[in-house]
Formats: sequence, C-alpha cells, structure tokens
Amino acid sequence: MTSNEIRDKFLQFFKERNHTIVPSSSLIPDDPSVLLTTAGMQQFKPYYSELDPITTIHPSIKKPVGKNAASIQKSFRTSDIDEVGDESHLTFFEMLGNFSFGGYFKEEAIKFGYDFIAGKDWMGLDIEYVTIFDPDKVPLDDWRKGVPFDEESYHIWKKIGLPEEKIRRDGVDVFWGPTGNEGPCGPTTEIYVKNAEGKAVEIWNIVFNEFYRDKNMRLTPLKTPGVDTGMGLERLAMVSESVGSIFETDLFVPLIQVLELNDRSGRLNQRTKRIMADHARGISFLIADGVRPSNKETGYVLRRLLRRFVVNEYLNEGTNPYFEKLLHVIIENYGKFYGELDYDLIDTVFNEEKAKFMATIEKGLRELKAVEKLDAKAAFKLFESFGLPYEVVKELGGGKAEALTREDFEKEFDKHREISRAGVEKKFGGHGLILDTGELKAGNEEELKKVLRLHTATHLMQQALREVLGQGVHQMGSDITPERTRFDFSFDRKLTPEEIKQVEDKVNAIVQADYEVRFQEMARSEAEKTGALHFFKAKYPDQVKVYYVTPKGKGIPEAWSKEFCGGPHVTHTGEIGTFRIAKEEGIAQGVRRIRAVVE
Ligand code: SER
Repeated sequence: MTSNEIRDKFLQFFKERNHTIVPSSSLIPDDPSVLLTTAGMQQFKPYYSELDPITTIHPSIKKPVGKNAASIQKSFRTSDIDEVGDESHLTFFEMLGNFSFGGYFKEEAIKFGYDFIAGKDWMGLDIEYVTIFDPDKVPLDDWRKGVPFDEESYHIWKKIGLPEEKIRRDGVDVFWGPTGNEGPCGPTTEIYVKNAEGKAVEIWNIVFNEFYRDKNMRLTPLKTPGVDTGMGLERLAMVSESVGSIFETDLFVPLIQVLELNDRSGRLNQRTKRIMADHARGISFLIADGVRPSNKETGYVLRRLLRRFVVNEYLNEGTNPYFEKLLHVIIENYGKFYGELDYDLIDTVFNEEKAKFMATIEKGLRELKAVEKLDAKAAFKLFESFGLPYEVVKELGGGKAEALTREDFEKEFDKHREISRAGVEKKFGGHGLILDTGELKAGNEEELKKVLRLHTATHLMQQALREVLGQGVHQMGSDITPERTRFDFSFDRKLTPEEIKQVEDKVNAIVQADYEVRFQEMARSEAEKTGALHFFKAKYPDQVKVYYVTPKGKGIPEAWSKEFCGGPHVTHTGEIGTFRIAKEEGIAQGVRRIRAVVE
C-alpha cells in the first residue's frame, strides 16, 4: 500500500463510521501555550473543555464538527530534533487521528483501532502488543501516580481476543498530555507492530481524555471526556510497506534518491541524508505556514534546521544547491494535499537566510576543511574561534575526526577552564578560591555572599528576559565574579531602554516579594518534564538538581523560575538587594551579553 492509499483508507474508514473529516490546521497553532502543532488534537483542544462541537462553527469546514472527527494533521516535534537520523524520528510528520468529544469512548475507540490495523480490508497488520496505563508503573513523586488503573481498556482488549501477554502495563508513557502548560489529558492505550527488522514500533496512540490539568498540576474531570488518537503516517507506511525505517518508505525514497543522484563524491553518509531529507521537509512546511528565521520561538526552530541543513550541504558538495532539488520533490509529492507549499516563497526565504549564515561561518568551515587532523584541541579551537559546535565538527569532519570523542573534547574544555581559573586565583592574590564551580568564583566569605546573590539574580534575570523578549531567549554562557554577573543569551537585536527597565523591574519585584529559593534532586527525565530551563550546550548527568524560586511554602509547580543548576544560591530573594543592568551589548551574530550588578 502506498502512503497515498493509506491516507485515503484512513479517511474512508472513519467517514464510514460517522466522523466529520476536517482538514489539517496550520503548524502554527492559535493556542499561545505551545510553539508548534505537535498533534492532531491541537486544533480540537477547546472542544474537550469549552466549545460545544454541535453548535460551534469550525473555521475551515464552515459548519459544526459534531461529536466525531478525523483528520490528517501536519505536525512538528522540536523535542525529537536530535534523534533525527535513526530509523523512526522526524521533526515534521503527518498525524492520522480520530477524535470524539463527548461521543464514543473506550469501547468503540479501541475497536476502531483494532479493526483498522488488523482488519483484512484495511491495513491487515499483525499487532505485536498493546500497552495500557497502570499507576504501579509510575514513579512515586509523579503527578500521574493517583490516576486509577485502566481496567476498562484491559477488558476491552481481552474481549477482542488479545492474549494476556500482549496486553502490557506501562506508566508515564501511556498517560498523555497536556500540550502546553494546561489542557486535556488522560490514560492511553498504544498499538505496537513489528517493522521489517523485527523491531516492535509504536504505531497508534489512543488517548482517553478524562481530565483537565490546570497550571498547578491539579487534575479535574473533564466537562466533555473524549477520545484523541494519533498515528504517524510515516511509521504506519514503514510497517505497511514492510521496510526497516521510515526513510525507506515511499514518503522518503524520492528525497533520498535525489540526494544520492547529486552526491557526486559519494560523501553523504546515511545519517546525513536522513537529516537533510527530514530538515528539507520541516523547513518547507514551516516557511509555508508563515515562519521566518529569527532568534525567537518558531523562528529559532526554523533557523536551527536551516543552518544544520546548510552546513551539511556546504561541506559535502561545495555549493551544490541540494535544497532546491529536494524542494521540487517535496512540492511534487505534497503539493496536492497542502496547497500552501509555494516554491518561490520557500526558496527565497531559504536562500536569504543561507546567504546570511554563510557569511558568518564560512571562515570556520574553511578552517575545518584545512585542518589535517581534527583532534580535541583542533575541535575546541574551531568552537572557540568560529562557534562550530562539537556535533558539527564531529559530523562534518568525517574521517579526519574519526578519533575525536566528546569526552576528549570536554577535557579540552576543562583544561581551558582551569587556565581561566588560574587567572582568577592570581587576581585573588594566590589565596586560592573557596568557591569555584566554573561559573561562580569567590576568594573569601564576603565574596561568597556576593556571588550567591548574583547567582540567584542571574536565574531571575533569565526568566525575566524570557518574559519580556520571548521564549527564544536561551542561555549561551554565564560567568559570575563578586563584582558582577555576565550572562550571554540568544537574541537578534539590541534591547530597548524600555525592555531593560522591564527586565530590571521584574527581577526587583521578585526580590521585593522575598520568594524562597529551593532545590530538588531528581532523574534528568523527570527534571525535563518540570519545564525547568537548562543550558542546551551542557551535558547533564542522570540525576540533576532543579533550583526553583517560588512563593513562600509553595513548590515547583508554582515556581516563578526553575533551572537545572548545581547551586549554590541564597535562600530568599530578599537577600539579593537591588538588581541593575549595567551594560548590554552584542558579542556575535544573534548573541547578546548583559553585565548586571546587585546593590
Ligand atoms: N495526542 C496524542 C499524541 O500526540 C494522540 O493523538 O500522541
């Protein structure tokens, strides 16, 4: 079955079962709590909590949706960017989904899932196993711990005839949502099917939205409980076409072929080809939906994809414009489903950004090509002088970087840190430092008190910067001495005096409110789920500390600022004193530096 046939079958299946077919919404959602559309349910989110599906006119079909709907939704997951290149992860993908808002529930939803996947007239696939929600599999301190075992789903699968060992119990992974800070969520049941290499792949996620989670992580029963399902078209095509990776499906083969045909020197390795194919699709769809490269939010996502693509393009075939060739194929394959894909527009936006980017890094890339051997020292120099990250050097260095490891690269980093530490020690008259975390340095008790105040102020400043300038602000570096804090972050222009004032006012308001500064140690994966900020360049251990600043007696959910951090900090924000930004300047394209003091 081709992927076009799968699309048709899916919509036909649900049309025959009384579902309204709703077209894909934009990748840029109306919902301000999320950056991009990550699932088919995004456009339907309000139907579970506020809107009446029977009376509300849906903007794209110009009539009410009714209680049951199905769609094929353009989706984009930034969380998977670093995994692109393996057999099943993508940034952009299409999600097949059926939805019910106060209509059918578990019985029908599971039956539909089973019939479509296993039914001889439909996909005709063998189900390897399914998963169901069991709170016993949820960690003790997790907010989902109190949700009851999904006994109903268990019995429905049994009734369908699935043997006991094919109904597996799982925890956090089979509880879905909410998207953003708050929204509908609930237990799920997932269907797994084997691919050509014998690996069981998650194909379909069937969510039973039973609860609404508010900003404070409180669960209340939903006004309109319902069903939200999601199945990645690319993964379904992989098992249906009986291949071992999504990149071998008809959705990707034409793209991979174009890359291979134009790769005259045969330098593109498999992972690079996959990344380029994925990113070309992601770039095209983001631009078509109105995203433009910038250092903020969706613009930053687009910029990251585009730059990674360009680096690969440049290093592997000089100036060969791979992108245009891929874009032709993308338009040919998707143009009839997604009319917004406009060749000239996408090509123009791509090339404007490419030209800008090339001017900045051309020097670094030339150096990378010229270097004979890319050992840790050479790699660190490329990073320090031209901003080429380890991954890029490793990936693009090819054979020259064969012996280069992240560990050695980091050792080089530490060596550099020791050198600057030696410099500080000298400054302190050789007395040695009583605190040196790399980021914080203090020579005596008095200085220690000062750097702690500046350290907490730095956390508050990062949060304030994100509130004033947007979520595209990310830490790029920081350094704290008893005199000042120095903080580097991503942003593409000078701050206005008003913005600087707003940031100062926000920090000083939290100082006035005398919030508590506390930390909790937890597994990295759990820490990531709290939404705590972390430094994307750093490598964190499996167990991390999350420092948070919260009103007296409150916890992480109510915190105003939260970050991965080793500490130490003051215990109350009142200790900080008055915070003032002393200087703001640009230090590289898209990177700003602030020096701030506490008085
Ligand atoms: N919202 C769920 C998911 O994204 C099911 O559609 O997996």
